Amino acid sequence: MKFVTVIGARPQFIKAAPVSRELRKEHEELIVHTGQHYDANMSDIFFEELHIPKPDFNLHVGSASHGKQTGEMLAQIEEILLSEKPDYLLVYGDTNSTLAGALAAAKLHIPVVHIEAGLRSFNKKMPEEINRIMTDHVSEYLFCPTDTAIENLHNENIHHNVINVGDVMFDAVEYNKKLANESSKILEEHGLTSKEFHLITIHRAENTDDQGKMKEILGAFSQIEEVKVWPIHPRTKHKLEGYGINLDSIPNLKIIEPVGYLDMLTLESNAKKIITDSGGVQKEAYFMQVPCVTVREQTEWVETLESEANILVGTDQQKIVEAVKKEVSPTYKQVFGDGKASVKIVEAIRK
Ligand code: UD1
Ligand code: UDP
Repeated sequence: MKFVTVIGARPQFIKAAPVSRELRKEHEELIVHTGQHYDANMSDIFFEELHIPKPDFNLHVGSASHGKQTGEMLAQIEEILLSEKPDYLLVYGDTNSTLAGALAAAKLHIPVVHIEAGLRSFNKKMPEEINRIMTDHVSEYLFCPTDTAIENLHNENIHHNVINVGDVMFDAVEYNKKLANESSKILEEHGLTSKEFHLITIHRAENTDDQGKMKEILGAFSQIEEVKVWPIHPRTKHKLEGYGINLDSIPNLKIIEPVGYLDMLTLESNAKKIITDSGGVQKEAYFMQVPCVTVREQTEWVETLESEANILVGTDQQKIVEAVKKEVSPTYKQVFGDGKASVKIVEAIRK
């Protein structure tokens, strides 16, 4: 069978690594990199570290408004699909690259395989929510990471080929955590002591594009005296520069460039707490059993909220500070599968 996989943003490279490894044991795969993320530390580093095969096509779409970025991808992916004639088109998650791939294939009657299907925040102001809903509704195979995702699809009357295989991000963590422990020098590089720092990641548009929310979030960071390390996403960096906000006055804050996956796993597993608005990072905090504080109004990863493993706080300054300071004793369940989601996906397609 011939697959075309469309990926373009950081979390998709990480999700594609275990699936691509498994898929290529039986099938032909061509990788299309849309170029949505293009900085070396947002793209190339993941291909190198995770041994993801080099993309067969790079569309170099770069950054633009939603319509322009998605539209350019759509036109170029269509051309590739017309000439390559794959049996399946495979996409991950909920970015503009996901939507463009799914839409291009569906219109050409090429079956779409959606990995990480069925997630919902029920907030259509998030671009990710639009991308997920649209993609799920044109997909032929919907591989879900959790039972909640299955339920969400059933509630939207999608029943055919809806399968809970577990989370491919859990596969990736299981595969790489030992290697990360052995090879990463990130703690030494930044003078960090295990469990004596908080890890921050903030990049979602709903936060970064709202100056008021960013001021609240940064106000909270100013009140948290402990060491905080923040590999800053380029979107956030550019937005803060645009607002004229300087981070120098925040005590004990170490702003660093985005890091590779192995360094990120090391930062996560050694953090005292993780403060994030990322989807993937909320889950990784759960996998590594590190308490998480999520700076968002909704999360699609509702399982993580049980027993305060993850506290959803929104952007109120005081609520963020209280959640970070709160002593929690979470219990963790195996709700994201057994680390074999990629194997199950390939098996399901074979059947
Ligand atoms: C995208 C996804 C988001 C996901 C995130 C993962 C959409 C709508 N959003 O958001 O769901 O959580 O990726 O990280 O698809 N930039 C650079 N260099 C890069 C990439 C981006 O400087 O290599 C800057 C540019 O200023 C750009 C901004 O980041 O305008 C935003 O990039 P974009 O790809 O549009 O969205 P993300 O915020 O990265
Ligand atoms: N990540 C990384 N380096 C960083 C920040 C994040 O490798 O500096 C990884 C993280 O471990 C997770 C993924 O990127 O696997 C999450 O992507 P991101 O937060 O950009 O997007 P989201 O999951 O919110 O869509």
